[in-house]
Amino acid sequence: MLQQLSQLEQEALAALADATSAEAVHTVRVRFLGRRGKLTSLLKAMGQLPAEQRPEVGRLTNEVKVRLEEEVSRRLKAIEEEALTEALLTGPVDVTLPGRRPPLGHLHPLTQVLEEIIAIFTSLNFTVAEGPEIETDWYCFEALNMPKDHPARDMQDTFYVADEVVLRTHTSSVQIRVMEHHPPPVRVISPGKVYRCDADITHSPMFHQVEGLLVDEPGRVTFGDLKGVLELFAHRMFGPETAVRFRPSFFPYTEPSAEVDIQCVGCRGGGCRLCKGSGWLEILGSGMVDPNVFAAVGYDPESVVGFAFGMGVERIAMLKYGIDDIRLFFENDARFLAQF
Ligand code: PHE
Repeated sequence: MLQQLSQLEQEALAALADATSAEAVHTVRVRFLGRRGKLTSLLKAMGQLPAEQRPEVGRLTNEVKVRLEEEVSRRLKAIEEEALTEALLTGPVDVTLPGRRPPLGHLHPLTQVLEEIIAIFTSLNFTVAEGPEIETDWYCFEALNMPKDHPARDMQDTFYVADEVVLRTHTSSVQIRVMEHHPPPVRVISPGKVYRCDADITHSPMFHQVEGLLVDEPGRVTFGDLKGVLELFAHRMFGPETAVRFRPSFFPYTEPSAEVDIQCVGCRGGGCRLCKGSGWLEILGSGMVDPNVFAAVGYDPESVVGFAFGMGVERIAMLKYGIDDIRLFFENDARFLAQF
């Protein structure tokens, strides 16, 4: 039986070597390894062997089977390669066929919106100022008219690094740094990452803000200028037909303060789920800089006037593109990102 087995293997290998087409290889495969093939019949005949020989013969038969299967794959591959070489050598090659381009990436949607916001304000002569993401209590709160016991500190859920050190909760901190180092007039925006201990489908513990500050002599800046600048921003960002409204609000560092709403992008003001039926969507906070802030940075509160504003980039992007889950920005799913 063992002799029969090795004979069969030699025979099969020879037949495979002679096979010069894929069909020929398949025929050989069926002849030896198929359900009615020679190796299978041999295996069936094993039943007649004495019981103690069966395991050994079974093992060897299986080994032959594996070797033959391997040889079949090798032959098929070799035949395929030969055919390709043959085709390349003899057939025409269309050298004008375009190549395959590697997929090109592009800027992240948040970066695109951030750049758009920056472009709108730089066109109004605002310059860009940046500052550290890890801040002291002074720059993030104290200098912004928020003493330690001020209830307004509860508005922002702060990550503390140490007693007096925080992850900045807004980029208003950069405005303090700018004013400390530059005498008025000042006209800056401060884009960057900010951190708040908050996470759901519209809040992320890390997000981006652009805040703005304009300071000049009394008489040269009014609440009307604030309204004009922010209305222009809303119209450039969401379209000139978008209605804008200013709603009284409170921030410790501005007085008076206002939140800016745009007409809902979902229902155009009629009321829907996005605007919770109100027809309006809040896009940013703003106000006239509180004199206490000027005093904190060493300006004379009597001789300067200014306005400030701040917005979340993710929120602007979500409203602009109708995205309802902030986490999509950070999952890096190419199917999402490719749409922008
Ligand atoms: N700092 C505020 C925020 O993070 C926004 C703001 C900036 C409001 C400047 C008024 C003036 O929500």
